[in-house]
Amino acid sequence: MCGIVGYVGFRNATDVLLDGLRRLEYRGYDSAGIAVRTPEGLKVVKRSGKLSSLAEAVGKTPLQGALGIGHTRWATHGAPTDPNAHPHTTEDGRIALIHNGIFENYLELKEALQARGHRFRSETDTEVLAHLLEETYRGDLLEALREALKAVRGAYAVVVAHEDHEEIVAARTVSPLVVGLGEGENFLASDVPALLPYTRRVIFLHDGDVVRLTREGVEITDLEGRPVQREAVEVDWTLEAAEKGGFPHYMLKEIYEQPWVLENTLGGRLREEEGTVELGLALDPREVDRVHVIACGTAGYAGLYGKYLLETLARLPTEWDVASEYRYRDPVVDSRTLALAISQSGETIDTLEGLREAKRKGARSLGVINAKGSTLTREVEDVLYIHAGPEIGVASTKAYTAMLAAMALLAVWFGRARGALAPEEAQRLLREMRRLPRLVEEVLEKRPLVAHVAEKYHQAQDFLFLGRHVQAPTAYEGALKLKEISYIHAEAYPAGEMKHGPIALIDEHLPVVVLATKGPLYEKTLSNIQEVRARGGKVIAIATEGDEEIPRLAQDVIYVPEVHPLLAPIVSVVPLQLLAYEIAVLLGRDVDQPRNLAKSVTVE
Ligand code: AGP
Repeated sequence: MCGIVGYVGFRNATDVLLDGLRRLEYRGYDSAGIAVRTPEGLKVVKRSGKLSSLAEAVGKTPLQGALGIGHTRWATHGAPTDPNAHPHTTEDGRIALIHNGIFENYLELKEALQARGHRFRSETDTEVLAHLLEETYRGDLLEALREALKAVRGAYAVVVAHEDHEEIVAARTVSPLVVGLGEGENFLASDVPALLPYTRRVIFLHDGDVVRLTREGVEITDLEGRPVQREAVEVDWTLEAAEKGGFPHYMLKEIYEQPWVLENTLGGRLREEEGTVELGLALDPREVDRVHVIACGTAGYAGLYGKYLLETLARLPTEWDVASEYRYRDPVVDSRTLALAISQSGETIDTLEGLREAKRKGARSLGVINAKGSTLTREVEDVLYIHAGPEIGVASTKAYTAMLAAMALLAVWFGRARGALAPEEAQRLLREMRRLPRLVEEVLEKRPLVAHVAEKYHQAQDFLFLGRHVQAPTAYEGALKLKEISYIHAEAYPAGEMKHGPIALIDEHLPVVVLATKGPLYEKTLSNIQEVRARGGKVIAIATEGDEEIPRLAQDVIYVPEVHPLLAPIVSVVPLQLLAYEIAVLLGRDVDQPRNLAKSVTVE
């Protein structure tokens, strides 16, 4: 996620902006820039790469001024280059703006603006707002911003400066933005850490808020210009806590970011009315006859989920294997095989080598990746980015649910292109996918219950996770989360496989987590729960809200909202993430940096 800083006051704005951006570096970025209102006009300096490159460039042309905006960019649209870095400006250079989020309808806006004679200098979605401001600005900067924002759709935190105004204006929808209140100075930031050296009195802006900041004060309205009251709060976080958004661990912060991430992954790509998705891929889906999933760990389980969906919805034969096996098993590949490489970091060596093996054999290639500019992005033909933002916790959470959403997008995309998925079924699925961010928010409210379950079972020596069909990958992922951060032995099986051996493990000491959400295999899963209970096992069930059968069978039930059965894994994994987290905390583990683990396994 991008870093944003805005300042108006009496200090040297360049110093405040660079210092604030440095405090936001942990968010991850690939370019940076500032705009400062100087006696010679609004000056912009921006560079790809790290803040040190920007600071060096600024050092050569010191910018004198007490008003400015600054940005670190986590690239979404367009490579990390100087022209794509923020701030972006109007063609006359008198207005500069920075943006965190995604303007979903930027392509149609860009085409319309170009038809009206606007000349673009970057590949970004952000720049469309600069050109809209050229058309809406008639002297009142705040009014110009409100009017321009009516044309865009999507998630944004935007901050704007004009060389003739001693004020900065801003707005937020979905992407966070915080006001810092000072004496004779005021601040804006995407995150609290940037403010802490100057003030602890902050206003957390809400979705739809538009704000005007001057040295003297802050004016907040809604998008229609109606005044809005927001209370200022005193944050007592340490800097370290602030970098975790007030959460005790990055992992918990990232679990709670999942609604926002799903909004970003799905948001601009769903076309419910047409029953299609807009993925922006150059790959022609009709040139593919089969898919080979190539991934590791959590990404691998996302790929296994993808296998179920690609075969169910697109009738596309899909082979699944962990990358470290795939690369050595001499796979059967031809020019109509698609190597689907899935990776949060884009640097996992087994995944890279598996992809290279498939390409050597003539396969096409597509990446489902989080990290822009990573090695994998350069070795696949095309990339479907999951837009999860930097994932700091070693145990992957928000990247996993974003990958699941990406699998669902691909399954619809292939299904419609191959004529295997009827428009009506696609529309139904897409409408359900649109609900996912809110459904995950609802599940996150169950955390106290999950913490209670964790308290009951955190001394267990072993856990078993069971799930059927698309919930089998969920079981694997739940077991991996628990293993990774609590160090408790946990294993997972397709529930139907339990009777072929693992059932010997069942006794009163073994908690069995069962994914038992409503779907075509619900009754069979109930039978599996009864098999466990008959042998004295303790069942923790993940069930669909309103299910009255499950509480009769399971010791503990964690309900999740009803959703299309093929999408149930996206909401069902969240309680498992929280369960692993709560147990690990109870056991005093290093949640963000578990022993023996690395965030990206770049060695064999
Ligand atoms: C997941 O919690 C683990 N950190 C690990 O299994 C990870 O998913 C795996 O190493 C793959 O990483 P990647 O997605 O960056 O390729």
